[in-house]
Amino acid sequence: MPTQLTVGADGRWMPRVGSIPPSCVHEVFRAVERWADGRAVIRLHVGEPAFRPPRAVHEAVTDALRRGRTTYGPAEGIPELREALAAKLLRRNGHDARADLVFVTPGSSQGLAALFQTVADPGDEVLLPALHWPVHLQQVLLAGLRPVFYPLDDHFRPDLRALADLGGSRARALLVNSPANPSGAVCRPEHLRPLLDLARRRSWQVISDEAYEDFVFEGEHVSLASLERDVPWDERIVSTAFSFSKSYAMTGHRLGYVVVANHRLASAFGLVQEATIVCPQMPVQYGALAALKSDTAVEANREHLRRAAGLLAPLTEAGLLAYLPEGGWYALLEVPAVGLDATAYAQALLEAQGVALAPADGFAIRPEFDEYGRILGVPTDLAASRFLRVALCGDHTVLRRGVERIVEFAAKG
Ligand SMILES: Cc1ncc(COP(=O)(O)O)c(C=O)c1O
Repeated sequence: MPTQLTVGADGRWMPRVGSIPPSCVHEVFRAVERWADGRAVIRLHVGEPAFRPPRAVHEAVTDALRRGRTTYGPAEGIPELREALAAKLLRRNGHDARADLVFVTPGSSQGLAALFQTVADPGDEVLLPALHWPVHLQQVLLAGLRPVFYPLDDHFRPDLRALADLGGSRARALLVNSPANPSGAVCRPEHLRPLLDLARRRSWQVISDEAYEDFVFEGEHVSLASLERDVPWDERIVSTAFSFSKSYAMTGHRLGYVVVANHRLASAFGLVQEATIVCPQMPVQYGALAALKSDTAVEANREHLRRAAGLLAPLTEAGLLAYLPEGGWYALLEVPAVGLDATAYAQALLEAQGVALAPADGFAIRPEFDEYGRILGVPTDLAASRFLRVALCGDHTVLRRGVERIVEFAAKG
């Protein structure tokens, strides 16, 4: 690809990164805070949970601080945490990875960003779901990769037939997110197996984002990498990102982990980590060790979300729910046919009822590039402007009130 300096509207040089679209999640958050200005708002636009980290996490972090465990450490994480994570991956996810393929990361976000840098080269294509967490797109663009968007079926799961027709010779990686943000869709083995077969046939690497692994409401979460346990190590293609933010409500602790597909990727990933983070935060890693012993907290948190999904019944009855979530922290509402797109509807709902939701078009940006790979524009997929994302992880009373007000607003037409 030829290179050319990126030039802004004023004709002066601007960094390429400056043309990457901001995340709608952050933008909506800022816009609602500006609007609120002292007004009461029912905040269903952000995924901050009502539950808190287990007490043992707080104690372990405090203890680590007291003992002076605040030095630099290994880039890949402390050995005892990597061992504990390998044991968890075997016990709960059916992986057989040893600790040397496990990397502790500052949030799964950083792990995902590092994976995109590891599995593909600048200019390569990455297949992203048509509706995706906007940070996935930002990470792809930051790594100098080209996004190609694959359609979803009517349950918001990857549309396999359409996916089979996508991806040119530079397609290098496929991102799968189950349970999914923003739809709450869950892929079962019957969806994952053909997906994996397709990726293998096409020589794609697979990045599986399983941040919401502990929030499947019926049945079990199936970790994609567990389906390639019979494949020789060198031929494995699935690398997975996990998070402490969701299962243990450790959102601000910033801790996640990645298990890479094979040892070749491990040495490349290790290099990205050395250069990017030097090492994960030391005290929080001791908190993570304590969190891994808190299975009851995970069960209680899953129950919180399962009950929250049950509180959406009035939306279903009013014909407003696009899809009853099978997992995760979010649901998608369908904007009633009143001649407003999701952004305008969200604004009207906020002003009339004080309920904040996130319009889904920000989850469906389709950047346009020029011949030099510069982003020329960031239109959105019009199909997504029918949807609004509702966060379910907050307080149940607040969610119940929010649902009532959404139904009331829709009834007024
Ligand atoms: C789909 C998805 N993946 C990953 C993350 C990142 O979580 P964290 O960086 O807190 O581990 C989020 C957070 O919202 C998410 O929605």
